[in-house]
Amino acid sequence: MLKGKKIIVGITGSIAAYKAAYLCRLLIKKGAEVQVVITPTGKEFITPVTLSALTQKPVLGEFFTANDGIWHSHVDLGLWADLMMIAPATASTIGKMANGIADNLLITTYLSMKAPIFIAPAMDLDMYAHPSTRANLEKLESYGNRIIEPTEGMLASRLEGKGRMEEPDKIVECIEAFFKRQNQLSQKKVLITAGPTYEKLDPIRYIGNYSSGKMGFALAESCAGRGAEVFLIAGPVQLKIHHPNIRRIDVNSADEMMDETLRIFPHADAGILCAAVADYKPANYSAEKLKRTDESLKINLIPNPDIAAKLGEIKRADQILAGFALETENEMQNALGKLQKKRLDFIVVNSLRDPGAGFQTDTNKIRILTAKGENTDFPLKPKCEVAEDIVDVLYGFWK
Ligand code: CTP
Repeated sequence: MLKGKKIIVGITGSIAAYKAAYLCRLLIKKGAEVQVVITPTGKEFITPVTLSALTQKPVLGEFFTANDGIWHSHVDLGLWADLMMIAPATASTIGKMANGIADNLLITTYLSMKAPIFIAPAMDLDMYAHPSTRANLEKLESYGNRIIEPTEGMLASRLEGKGRMEEPDKIVECIEAFFKRQNQLSQKKVLITAGPTYEKLDPIRYIGNYSSGKMGFALAESCAGRGAEVFLIAGPVQLKIHHPNIRRIDVNSADEMMDETLRIFPHADAGILCAAVADYKPANYSAEKLKRTDESLKINLIPNPDIAAKLGEIKRADQILAGFALETENEMQNALGKLQKKRLDFIVVNSLRDPGAGFQTDTNKIRILTAKGENTDFPLKPKCEVAEDIVDVLYGFWK
């Protein structure tokens, strides 16, 4: 998988720098070409001689070599690499990356990088939990950088907690998974619906639901990350997209979502219907604010269009259609019913009975049923990893 891949390993001043030597060795054993870029403090923790002996390349740490003035071009490094992996990344380096403080070669290389960037933080638990570090990491994620979460355990401070850099073999697994998926969906167009719909009652009120849109947005990032052109039709949510290949179309109501979906679906190779579409809308919209009275209020609701069923009806044989079923009981039976009724190729089932699954959470626990009768159960995972599992299944239809 890594044969011929050009990887920059960025090393910063953390005790976990010793693990970077092992990381370089594993990458090289897998066939990658590794160039180390190190910060001045990184050199205090691991000697460049170890790293140059492993990588068979000079370790770069200065803007130019003192004795002959040879300039180390961070611009060339940015063009050369297929991937940059900063491991370990200290709170200080993360802060500089997030804010463009380019006072060493690692940061200038980071700022010039054309290739995907991975960051494996390593620090004390309180530093990792500090709002400043959290905000910086969030900012880096919003730039499209991928964070390899640290693990929990004994830290250099002898304290126990989250802040240990992920182990080198796990980091290599992430890099391999990334390259495996990188161009899988190039040439494919994927339509995704996400979030809730709001059905207007009067100028200030609506009927809605608790959907956060996180699952649909994670699916959009995953598909775009694999090279697809993504059309994300989003109900009202407080989320941002990161990948430039995602075209976001904001809608409010189920009718608007239906119109946009019908416009785009004929041009798409697949549709993933993740939105929590309101099943009903008020029969009448009141142009004036509804006034309070002492009587009970009856609102007449009429059914909304079923977007998934409509797409199932018009779907061409070469198109893949996937839906979701969020259930509170009879999960399998209900999901199978939806799979068949809406003519889906596969359905992602989650149950509100599983802790950590469903709306407003950062994690999800899913089962995927296919029209061919396959039934796969997945463990509880962060929504971005769940998205990768779902897109793996989608890709399976085209393999
Ligand atoms: N869906 C849709 N349009 C609707 C309702 C649902 O596209 N008007 C899609 C959802 O995005 C999801 C799938 O259909 O992919 C199943 O949605 P769900 O709300 O679970 O199913 P319903 O058919 O609405 O059934 P019920 O609410 O009775 O469980």
